Amino acid sequence: MQRIVVSELKNGMVTARNVLSADGKLLLAEGQIITESYIRRLQELGIYAIYVRNPYFSDLEIPAIIAEETRQSGIQTMKCALDVLRNKRMDLAVTDIQQSARRIVAEIIRNRKAMIHLTEIRTHDDCTFAHSVDVCILAVLVAVEMGYAENRLTELAVGALLHDVGKVRVGQQLLIKPDRLTDEEMVIMRGHPWFGFEILRTHKGQLSIPSIHVALQHHEKFDGTGYPRGLAGEAIHEFSRIVSIVDVYDAITSDRPYRKALLPHEAYELLQMTGTQHFDPTILPIFLGKIAVYPVGATVRLNTGDIGIVTSVEPGLPTRPVIRLILDQHRRLYPGGSTLDMKNHLTVFIDQVVDGTLLSNLI
Ligand SMILES: [Fe+2]
Repeated sequence: MQRIVVSELKNGMVTARNVLSADGKLLLAEGQIITESYIRRLQELGIYAIYVRNPYFSDLEIPAIIAEETRQSGIQTMKCALDVLRNKRMDLAVTDIQQSARRIVAEIIRNRKAMIHLTEIRTHDDCTFAHSVDVCILAVLVAVEMGYAENRLTELAVGALLHDVGKVRVGQQLLIKPDRLTDEEMVIMRGHPWFGFEILRTHKGQLSIPSIHVALQHHEKFDGTGYPRGLAGEAIHEFSRIVSIVDVYDAITSDRPYRKALLPHEAYELLQMTGTQHFDPTILPIFLGKIAVYPVGATVRLNTGDIGIVTSVEPGLPTRPVIRLILDQHRRLYPGGSTLDMKNHLTVFIDQVVDGTLLSNLI
């Protein structure tokens, strides 16, 4: 399968995965033949990219940290809980959220060796629910690596799921605004950590203090330049120090109406550059060690001039993946395909990550 941006889709291509909206509704089933009207509909819905079948990549399985079903059910739980809260009908459904957190934690413990491959397709509209679940998954993955026991992981997972709960008090127009926010709007948006803290404080009996503090502290930075209180170093709770890293990673690797998502290797470099000031210097490398810099399915150009796709990544060797060579330096097809395991060819390097569409146009 291959990830392709919607504007590059052509009649007759076939979906390789279910295409879901931000709230988990099925838009196109796997195996669906793409038509012009589907392309228009996807564009209207703000879907940026989908997975299509490609004979060269048909056997590629992109490993997932948790089952898509678990992720979708987490998104649904968050959507129900926050919709109810937004409409001020009743209190936050803490028990449902705790149940989702426990399910996510249990699955991640089972898949603790997995790397983070960027496979998600996000929409342009309000993706707070999907974002909460993804932040939770990434935070738990880091904490497993840090040796947290299951109870503490669940406490962190609940805090991560609820980190942006304060956004229910930020107007919907602001959350889905397609342009950058004005200074005044930014002040309102930056109120969400306090709003979240106030909401969660009323559930003190059910939620632990560290979980509640994730909402308040997840925009604090290690060097004290964050908000709302400008806390620095270990004055920021460890849960919040973990969530702040994965929150930024998830945001920069998601498409926004005013900018394209960064690719994993770009996000990796950005975090490495800004990371030492903004994030806990002991936690950041743990997170970076879990990112598949060149995820399965990425199209890459090697210093030999060959172009190929990443077919697997070994934990601990993020920059030496296994590559299926597709085109040689003269843009000729490799007959029958050829595999290169970069850990056995130390003079070969990845020069560039190329747009996958480019490859499908060449072959
Ligand atoms: Fe936030």
